Formats: sequence, C-alpha cells, structure tokens
Amino acid sequence: MALTITPLHPLFAAEVSGVDASAPLAAPLVAELTEAIDRYAVLVLRGQTLTDEQQIAFANLFGPPEINIGVHRAANQRRLARPEMADVSNINPQNEVHRRDDARRMFNLGNMLWHTDSSFRDPPGGLSLLYAHAVPSRGGETEFADLRAAYDALDGDIKVVIADLRAEHSIMHSRASLGFSEFSESEKAALPPVVQRVVRVHPGSGRKTLYLASHASHIIGWPVPEGRLLLRDLIEFATRREFVFVHRWQAGDLVIWDNRCTLHRGRPFPAEERRDLRRVTTSDHAAMAEKAA
Ligand code: OGA
Ligand code: MN
Repeated sequence: MALTITPLHPLFAAEVSGVDASAPLAAPLVAELTEAIDRYAVLVLRGQTLTDEQQIAFANLFGPPEINIGVHRAANQRRLARPEMADVSNINPQNEVHRRDDARRMFNLGNMLWHTDSSFRDPPGGLSLLYAHAVPSRGGETEFADLRAAYDALDGDIKVVIADLRAEHSIMHSRASLGFSEFSESEKAALPPVVQRVVRVHPGSGRKTLYLASHASHIIGWPVPEGRLLLRDLIEFATRREFVFVHRWQAGDLVIWDNRCTLHRGRPFPAEERRDLRRVTTSDHAAMAEKAA
C-alpha cells in the first residue's frame, strides 16, 4: 500500500492517507513515513481508531517512547495507565472536566506557550504523536512553526551571532513564566535544567534549524536579560504567520511532529467542554550523543 501525501502549507506539514496506525506496518511503509516526516516535519493522519497500546506501538516504530513526566504525580491523580502517555486532556480520573484551578489543568496551560516537547530533558524529545479522542466544538487548535524555514530566513548577521550559542531549558522556567510553580521536590529533582544548542543540524534533512522553546530561560555565558530577549526575539520571528501551520482537530486525528525542527502551541477553547488528546513522544538519543561529542 502506497502513501498519499498532500501538502497542507507552502513550507511544511502534509496530510497522509493510506496508513492504518492501529495495524502492524510493513518496513517499507515505515521508511516512507520517516521520509515524509523528514521532509514535512508535521504529518496529519485522519480517521484513525487507536487504543493507548496501539498508539504507543505505532510510536515505537520511530524510536523508543519516553516515560512521561506525569509519572511523578500520585497514581490517583493520573487518568491514563501507561507511563508513556502524556495526558494532554482536561479530564480527571473520575472522567470529569478539570476545575478551573486544578493543578493538572494549570500545568497543561503551559502547552499554550510556543515550545517543543521535552527540550528540557536529556535525551530531548524526537517525534511526538498526538491523538484526538474527543475535541471541543470550537477552538483548541494546535499551531506549528517551521524552524528550518525560519532559520533560512534569518539575516546573515544574526546567524553569525547565534551559531554557537547554547541555552538552558527547564520545565520549571516555562511554567514559572505563567505564574505556575506547583512542582513537588521529586519533580524538581527529576527534572534538572538541560543545555541545548540554539542552532542545530536536523538529522533527517541535513538542514540547519533553530531549536527554541518556552522552556529556554537564558543563553549560557550571557547576562540573563540579554539572553532572554534574544530567545524571545527568535521565537517572535520564527512564529511569524508565514512559518505557521494551524491544525484544526477532529476526533480520530493522529498528528505526528518532529520536535527537532518545529515549535507548537495549543490554542484556547471553551473550558467546560471535553478535549481528550493523548501524546506519546519518542526520545532523541542521537541528540544526546551529539552533545556529548
Ligand atoms: C502537546 C501539546 C498542544 C495542544 O501535546 O505536546 O503541546 O494543542 N499540545 O494540546
Ligand atoms: Mn507540546
């Protein structure tokens, strides 16, 4: 079975049909999908029917799934059994929509800042696979920005300035920037800051890319305010509308994105409506090796 790939944006993002992600996939099809991810960075697969186990098995074709940081939460606070699953929903284990001031809701509100998944971990996130079980009647889109195209469009002077810079990334920083700081001691101990290059070579395409996120707090070796301003400027530039693709969710959508060369953020939706999205993210072990080298 061959894939049909339909571009969704002039620069990146495509819809793929001809894949049933719940069934075992032949190696040539996995190779074709990997090629499409390397080229388009964001793939939309519609009309899927997936259990958590099937979603994890599908993700595993592209790399080892990371254990989600939600495992640090008390078991009775978690709705989903599998430790690989990030619960991106607004639903509690009793199957009710979170109260407005629920810590899990406030934590997930951080997903509305431009970011890339697990840049604050070592190894960082590779691919994310987000699947929609239920979506609100309006809003709740996910926006993606193309960091390879944004890098290409930077002017030469700034490319020279940022070529060898490194930034410190921490989940505590992105959450603190929204005024949320309810982390336990065990979470703080398990999630120390990580240093990442600001410019990297995207391994799948050989193209240079920015690597940015709301998790990045400062530039190593620079005064904090100066580094923070640079990071804000770069994110502002990279998320200009021409670099952004907006995904409008339907139940049954599976969206795959490459965290190594994109930013994303969620958009608001009516807080009383159910939005049940679940994510598996693979670990980018190659990035860890690159850093050590
Ligand atoms: C995520 C994320 C955004 C959204 O799942 O990593 O950032 O729209 N989601 O829910
Ligand atoms: Mn995310």
